[in-house]
Amino acid sequence: MEISSILQGGYQHPLSRSWQGRRQLTKSMFMYPIFITDDPDASVAIPSLPGQCRWGVNQLEGFLGPLVQKGLRSVILFGVPLKCEKDERGSPADDPHGPVIQAIQKIRSVFPDLYIACDVCLCEYTSHGHCGILHSDGTIHTAPSVDRMAEVALNYARAGAHCVAPSDMMDGRIRAIKRSLVDAGFGNRCTLMSYSAKFASGLYGPFRDAAGSAPAFGDRKCYQLPSDAKGLARRAIQRDVTEGADIIMVKPSLPYLDIIADAAQLAVDHPIACYQVSGEFAMVHAGARAGVYDLKALAFETTESMVRAGATLILSYFTPEFLEWLPA
Ligand code: PBG
Ligand code: ZN
Repeated sequence: MEISSILQGGYQHPLSRSWQGRRQLTKSMFMYPIFITDDPDASVAIPSLPGQCRWGVNQLEGFLGPLVQKGLRSVILFGVPLKCEKDERGSPADDPHGPVIQAIQKIRSVFPDLYIACDVCLCEYTSHGHCGILHSDGTIHTAPSVDRMAEVALNYARAGAHCVAPSDMMDGRIRAIKRSLVDAGFGNRCTLMSYSAKFASGLYGPFRDAAGSAPAFGDRKCYQLPSDAKGLARRAIQRDVTEGADIIMVKPSLPYLDIIADAAQLAVDHPIACYQVSGEFAMVHAGARAGVYDLKALAFETTESMVRAGATLILSYFTPEFLEWLPA
């Protein structure tokens, strides 16, 4: 046998195996998605998302405290208003008494070192459940949608969010949001993370249950990307870089590792985020429950694949587990 054909000498020991990854999972790579509802005392389990709850603002200290102790560095907030009046323009999104703005202020005061990102979208707050404002024929009305997204993002920044992350997929919203942040003096105080390559996926079901954000009619295929559209994904990534995104995100993750790798190449000087979405999380759990594999093994294997593809930040419902599993 050729000397050069021998590989196993390089990874016979746990330590030498640890040297084989270009980059490794760390606690600070994980951003934890949390659902905030408008009953301040709520802690309601979400059946389709094992271990996850909808939290009221009064519960956040008790819920997040132990995680911060274990090394939690960042969260991304999703509002789940249940009591409010939804309308055509998603007014509850930035209601100063609504769950997201209340949660930002609470977390800032109780955990000043915790980094707070906010998802920016209208679907949780619109009467029709779509992510933007609609024409009377039900199609997206882009200009007012983008204006509204910029308004909501700015209000989250004003409330103290460190990062705003628009997930609506409307054309032009990254430029509009960056412009409004800069003009209001938040250009150097708030990060803009773009859900740049967000695909119309079958993997968002548990999230839509959790957030009550399923569209009342139709689907999201005219704004989220077709799953086979590599070219559109690459164009969206490059567009968002030129429009002023600070972080580029790909979503979902596991079926789109090639897009993560493309993003890492196209936005080589930007952090690359990926979202291990609700359906991916539920799928890993379901397989483990069915005895197909070990939960922890697959939680590592899936997230390591994302890092290998080029992700530097992972949004994952497994974050609390990784705070247990990863070294300090
Ligand atoms: C809302 C939004 C969705 C997710 C994040 N933001 C759902 C959707 O687009 O329908 C999905 C997250 C997940 O599944 O965990 N725009
Ligand atoms: Zn949406």
